[in-house]
Formats: sequence, structure tokens, C-alpha cells
Amino acid sequence: MAAGAAGDLSGKVALVTGGATGIGRATALELSRAGAAVMVADFNSAQGEETVRLVRDGGGRAAFVRADVNSEADVAAMVQAAFDTFGALHCAFNNAGILERHSGTLLADLEKDDWDAVLATNLTGVFLCLKHEIRAMMRLGGGSIVNTSSIAGLRGTAALPSYGVSKHGVISLTRSAAQGYGSYGIRVNAVCPGLIETSMLDELAEKVPAVAATLDSGQPLGRPGQPPEVAAAVVWLCSDAASFVTGIAMAVDGGRTA
Ligand code: NAI
Repeated sequence: MAAGAAGDLSGKVALVTGGATGIGRATALELSRAGAAVMVADFNSAQGEETVRLVRDGGGRAAFVRADVNSEADVAAMVQAAFDTFGALHCAFNNAGILERHSGTLLADLEKDDWDAVLATNLTGVFLCLKHEIRAMMRLGGGSIVNTSSIAGLRGTAALPSYGVSKHGVISLTRSAAQGYGSYGIRVNAVCPGLIETSMLDELAEKVPAVAATLDSGQPLGRPGQPPEVAAAVVWLCSDAASFVTGIAMAVDGGRTA
């Protein structure tokens, strides 16, 4: 297959979970600028509809579907909504995620319900999305999927024990899916953002002082990242410019893990 122009998604249909805010919203906008029609999914309907409005204001095509990635019925309906609205599904960004309610708690003090909630959204949610997206893409003869892991998926994080497990697990799911479905023309990759300025980072910096102390100094580039800087990597991975790239976990972290 010939590599396409970098980041050209003209005529493609893309799905974004966690598309209501932060990295998901920025990626919905960037996918649209690259030419894709975007199905925005989230359980936050008001902000999800706002992302759609922003895409349309920029001249793009988008629609919102309310979906909780913890629910297999919601996830199946979300994938179907992309077909019903735009007639296909070529790219998916499985990005919805949460922190522990009590981020900053070390493992021996972590409540089981906190562990369960993080694993349900961040890991089981990605599994459910992959399952239904892959089935749809197999029918279409291929596609490209990007999952949001984290630098917490690349190394240990004492203050985020369940979040770290979930993000390591996302990389394992990414590799399993890449190995299992490459022969069907489906590429599956992960992005591993570092500290990116969103409401999640505000919450983390408030609960974990060690993070707040390294917002600038913790990266060789000397600053936290912005959501569009992750979105640019996702668009590239979705596009044919990355046609021989599958199964990778790409750090987008200003060098924090270098
Ligand atoms: P955010 O809080 O702005 O976005 C998360 C989105 O996911 C929200 O729109 C929220 O409504 C949605 N969501 C949460 N649970 C959901 C569920 N069960 N079903 C459907 N939607 C759900 O935070 P941000 O930073 O944009 O996070 C996006 C992803 O990036 C997450 O997976 C996060 O773990 C990951 N990440 C973020 C980093 C950062 O520094 N901001 C660093 C590394 C990874």
C-alpha cells in the first residue's frame, strides 16, 4: 500500500470516545481538519454536543452519540451510530478515561471500589470498544484504531496504582489486537501522553503534589503538553501515512520518559 499524504483523512469516518473535553475534543477537531467526519462519543452529553458544534463551526461534519464505555450495549450502539450517521467506520480513537477518585493513595490504602471503577472505564472500556470496532472494520476490509494509554502505562506510578495497571493493560490490548487483526488490514496503536493541560491534569496536580511540582521541570521540553499535540499524533497514526505502523505505544510526553 502506498503511504498517503501525512494526516490526510479525506472521506474517512472517525469515532472518538471521551470526545466531550480535553484530548478527545482536540482530536475530534484535528480529525475533522484532516477531512474525516467525526462521531463524538461520551457520557457527558452537554460537552459532547459542544464538541460537535465546534467541529461544525470549523466547516466539518460531526455528530454526537451518548455512550458509557463501561456498557457493552452502549458501545455496540455507538459503533452502529457511526454507520447509521456516516455510513462507515475507518478510524477510532478509544480515549475515554478517568483517574482514581483518591489519586495519590498508595496501593495498600487503595479502596477496591476505586480500583474497580478505574479498571472498568480505562481497561474494560477499551476492550469493549476494540471488540465492536474490530468487528465493524473486518466487515469493511480494514481500519486504524488508536487507544489512549499514558506514560503511566510505560513505567510505575506509586500514586496511581490502578490507573497505572489500566494504562499498562491498554498497551497489552493494543499489541494483542495489532497481532490478531493485522492480516485483516486493521492497524492498532497506542499513544502515551505525558502531562497534558486538561481538567484531568488539574485534578491530578491538586491531588498529587509531586506532579504539580514537575509540570515544567519534569520534561526536557520544559513545559506540559497541549491537547492538540496529542491529537496530531493520533491523526498521523490514523492516516495512511502510518501504513506500516501497528502495535506501537508512542510517547507524546515532551521527553518525560526519555
Ligand atoms: P478529560 O477528563 O478532559 O477527558 C476524559 C473524557 O472521558 C471526558 O470527556 C469524560 O466525560 C470521558 N469519560 C470518562 N469516563 C467515561 C465513560 N465511562 N464513558 C464515556 N466517556 C467517559 O481528560 P483528558 O486529559 O482529556 O483525558 C483523555 C485521556 O487521556 C484519558 O484516557 C486519560 O487517562 C489520558 N491521559 C491524560 C493525560 C493528561 O495529562 N491529561 C496524561 C496521560 C493520559
